[in-house]
Amino acid sequence: MYKKVYHTIIRSEKMGSRMSVRIEPWSDTDLALLYRLNAPEMLEHLGGPESDEQILARHKRYLEIGMKGTGRMFSIVLLPELEAVGNIGYWERVWQEETIYEIGWGVLPPYQGRGIAAAATAATLASASAEQKHRYIHAFPSVDNPASNAICRKLNFSLISECAFEYPPGNAIRCNDWRIDLNEKF
Ligand SMILES: CC(C)(COP(=O)(O)OP(=O)(O)OC[C@H]1O[C@@H](n2cnc3c(N)ncnc32)[C@H](O)[C@@H]1OP(=O)(O)O)[C@@H](O)C(=O)NCCC(=O)NCCS
Repeated sequence: MYKKVYHTIIRSEKMGSRMSVRIEPWSDTDLALLYRLNAPEMLEHLGGPESDEQILARHKRYLEIGMKGTGRMFSIVLLPELEAVGNIGYWERVWQEETIYEIGWGVLPPYQGRGIAAAATAATLASASAEQKHRYIHAFPSVDNPASNAICRKLNFSLISECAFEYPPGNAIRCNDWRIDLNEKF
């Protein structure tokens, strides 16, 4: 049975403000958030904005993934206003002949630079660790994505190597393979 660690609250004191960040399981009402996240400046490293059809299919995948047991998607919520400001989650991927979790994140532009993604990542790692399903979680940020690489460094992921990806299909990119051991304490 999945433990409800996703209610972990983390304080972020960046930029002089005290904030609490919570991750919430992805829900029906998060479709509007997904549209807001589908902005060109958000998807520079992720292949650009998606069509309405692609967004609806993504929303459905996010809703179903927890039930399938192959990962979890969350919205990132600021307290006390309960304002949805981003998304984060993890899903299974076969990587170098091993099934691992991959983690990904996004925070809406007006809320970036306040430590929100780092705080939400810490909570999400705690969730993945509590499942005790896969030992490793990887992040594959583009080598040109300083903020995502900084998050991995800050949260003590190990940099394994640089690698080549094709994302979206037909578009070659260079990514860093960052890995963290979920058996460690979170
Ligand atoms: C990546 C992203 C989620 C970061 O969100 P955020 O809430 O601004 O991140 P944080 O405030 O937690 O910052 C994390 C670290 O990145 C650093 N950082 C942020 N922007 C940076 C930049 N342009 N250059 C270098 N470091 C940067 C911060 O200084 C911080 O490190 P620190 O706490 O050691 O100072 C956000 O920029 C985003 O949504 N980008 C578009 C989507 C995307 O690229 N997703 C990732 C795909 S792998």
